[in-house]
Amino acid sequence: MKYGTIGTSWITDSFIKASKKISDLTLTAVYSRSEEKARNFADTHGVKHAFTDLEHMAKSDVIDCIYIASPNSLHYEQAILFLKYKKHIICEKPIFSNTKELKEAYKVAEENNVYLFEAIRSIHAPNFKRLKENMAEIGKMRSAILHQVRYSSKYNSYLAGNNPNIFSAEFSGGALVDMGIYPLYLAVALFGEPDSVSYIATKLDSGVDGSGTLVLSYADFTCTIMCSKIVTSYIPCEIHGESGTFVFEDVSKINELRLIDNQTNQVTTIETPDIKEDMVYEIGNFRRIIKTNSVQEYEELKELSLIVLSITEEARRQNDIVYDCER
Ligand SMILES: NC(=O)c1ccc[n+]([C@@H]2O[C@H](COP(=O)([O-])OP(=O)(O)OC[C@H]3O[C@@H](n4cnc5c(N)ncnc54)[C@H](OP(=O)(O)O)[C@@H]3O)[C@@H](O)[C@H]2O)c1
Repeated sequence: MKYGTIGTSWITDSFIKASKKISDLTLTAVYSRSEEKARNFADTHGVKHAFTDLEHMAKSDVIDCIYIASPNSLHYEQAILFLKYKKHIICEKPIFSNTKELKEAYKVAEENNVYLFEAIRSIHAPNFKRLKENMAEIGKMRSAILHQVRYSSKYNSYLAGNNPNIFSAEFSGGALVDMGIYPLYLAVALFGEPDSVSYIATKLDSGVDGSGTLVLSYADFTCTIMCSKIVTSYIPCEIHGESGTFVFEDVSKINELRLIDNQTNQVTTIETPDIKEDMVYEIGNFRRIIKTNSVQEYEELKELSLIVLSITEEARRQNDIVYDCER
């Protein structure tokens, strides 16, 4: 399968590097708004086709699939364009600004008989699977504290008076959709859709959240999610059951996964070593789903994306965080 890319930042580099490990996936085209950047990016990655016009790229038969890594608010229009030209989509998280866009895009994907995936690496990695398989080991679950709390280098630019895309309502930014989405995805993939959600945001003058705490309420437990792009946390994530506790580092790339027995304090390490280019797991899964037409797996991923996006939408509603595309 031949694919192209939108976006020329480090995340597209990481995607290209990881995709080289998938045997039947080949980068054939790149896009940038600037001709010079497009050519340089194409040369760096040894690719012939460098586009500066998205419609030309979408129409072209040099790609079957597009990886979208542009600012969040642009994902939707770009995805619709490529779906209409029957290209599969791997779109960076957060997939779109709201569920109205997502539902419409799934409809267009179905009409054109192509797939639309949200790239969220954590839930495709082996250590997430180990965690899920071992959930029964902690007994009756009671609470969880998951977080992605990391000072962003782009906050320096924000403080200097600029408005980086990820801190702006124009580009559908903010801490919850950028950072909180990792613990949120993990929670929904592990525990399912919560009964209710409550988000307390620390809003910036730009109108979006710099930090926040999201509480997911389930019938007999709660999951507390913290996210931030303006401070840093050094504590691990924990999932608490009546018999034991899971402890792990980095919710976006689970590592040092341990199970601690409440009674004996015995620590069991249950992780498997992930490979460095961890995007390879999601890309491999997407490629396999397309190749084998795994409808059930695809439907499960669609459902996950919809639940996660509906939660961030509700969380924004509670805090009056309105994106420009919704005004
Ligand atoms: N999965 C992960 O671990 C991960 C990590 C980082 C980011 N992401 C996601 O990847 C996406 C891109 O994030 P990023 O931090 O790379 O964003 P970014 O630097 O703001 O923009 C990404 C690319 O979009 C183009 N772009 C920038 N500003 C634009 C504008 N005003 N109008 C149109 N195009 C513009 C640029 O490419 P050209 O100048 O070449 O056109 C740039 O390389 C986001 O959705 C983000 O959430 C995911």
